Amino acid sequence: MNVVVLAAGRGTRMRSELPKVLQPLAGRPMLAHVLVTARLLAPQRICVVYGYGGEQVLAAMSMALDGVTWVEQAQQLGTGHALMQAMPHLNNAPVTLVLYGDVPLVQVDTLRALVEQAARGKLAVLTVDMAQPAGYGRIVRAPSGVIVRIVEERDADAVTREIVEVNTGIMALPTNKLADWLSRLNNDNQQNEYYLTDVVALAAEDGVVAVASQPTHEWEVMGVNDKVQLAAVERQLQWNCAERLMLQGVTILDPTRIDVRGNLQCGRDVSIDVGCVFSGEVVLGDDVSVGACCVLRDVVIGAGTRIAPFSHLEHSQVGANNHIGPYARLRPGAELGNSVHIGNFVEIKNSRVDDGSKINHLSYVGDSMVGKRVNIGAGTITCNYDGANKHRTVIEDDVFVGSGTELVAPVTVGTGATVGAGSTITRDTPAGELTLSRVRQVTISGWKRPVKKGIE
Ligand code: UD1
Ligand code: CA
Repeated sequence: MNVVVLAAGRGTRMRSELPKVLQPLAGRPMLAHVLVTARLLAPQRICVVYGYGGEQVLAAMSMALDGVTWVEQAQQLGTGHALMQAMPHLNNAPVTLVLYGDVPLVQVDTLRALVEQAARGKLAVLTVDMAQPAGYGRIVRAPSGVIVRIVEERDADAVTREIVEVNTGIMALPTNKLADWLSRLNNDNQQNEYYLTDVVALAAEDGVVAVASQPTHEWEVMGVNDKVQLAAVERQLQWNCAERLMLQGVTILDPTRIDVRGNLQCGRDVSIDVGCVFSGEVVLGDDVSVGACCVLRDVVIGAGTRIAPFSHLEHSQVGANNHIGPYARLRPGAELGNSVHIGNFVEIKNSRVDDGSKINHLSYVGDSMVGKRVNIGAGTITCNYDGANKHRTVIEDDVFVGSGTELVAPVTVGTGATVGAGSTITRDTPAGELTLSRVRQVTISGWKRPVKKGIE
């Protein structure tokens, strides 16, 4: 089979500089979703007809260029004209399946059923009965039930507009008839475009039977022409993802308030509160709970870890039974062992924090190695950047760092050392000893506060 994806349209109704097929859906270009589905069908050839914003489309799709023939439609003269551009690149497989870049939710099973219908030289159209068919092409059938043509809404008279069976755009066609049918299209219609939908009437003329097949779910054929429809498709996709996770046993407190923009893999008894966004590859171990409004991107979270609300974690590894947040931030390269506590307004970057250590309040730890059972007091800062280069801080096992300490890297705090609160540590501190750098406290006795002038 050939698969041709029509993706050249500008998408005027999106009112955006970004070509329509690049508008993001679950964090990826809409077209990328269609290509994933196309690949699952394992066709002999996949052709994408692109056009509007061509360079931008190729650049954005660079990760998906392999195994796809990209055909440019320099001028967007209609869906029939678009398919014509792909003709020289098609394989002689009996069936050519046409997908639309702006109908991204269609499922493989639905397409397989459609292709099967077309297998014996028929033309198969994916149709659906819609309560509100406005905007879609209508399927016109003869009294016998045979499909005779498709009429675009703009070209339809009042009676035709009453028809609720609509064209989803997706069709499976006999490859050997295509060249002839496409050459017979004209643009004598409201939009002066060469409509692919007109091949249905040509097939009828030629005695080729046109049949209809329906998607398993109506949502599969939702089209995206404006931002309202884009949002509707996004919600549907997110609902599908939430449903899949819930059926796997994940507790999602409100499945209408979760966003997965990538892959989310969950163990048993995972619980996710409202308003969380998961991007890239996220793995949550058994019994992980994620509080409200967390953002997790490319992270692995170990079993039993609790992430409290409003935490932001990216490109990090988190061990088992940790307490993270609320309001914690793990930046790229944060690597936490087991039973680690990271509290509110704590930022960890490119650092390893080992088992049982606690950094509970208002601290910055960057480019550091923090050993086991370390306690870092509130407001501690690793001064890792000298304005030109980054330096490492090493805090060995069983260290206690008092609150409000600055550790000026490169520096090592030895095993079991204690650092007095308020210190600025610029040299390595010996293991097991108390080190502090603090101006001695003085009292000026009899000192009077200044008073405002003019007040007696
Ligand atoms: C199309 C169908 C309509 C169907 C609807 C379903 C036609 C004539 N109409 O209408 O029957 O109900 O989809 O969603 O086919 N494209 C190109 N080159 C072009 C024009 C369009 O590649 O010259 C691509 C677009 O990028 C898009 C797809 O074809 O992915 C559909 O084009 P669009 O203009 O959105 O057609 P609709 O008006 O939605
Ligand atoms: Ca459309």
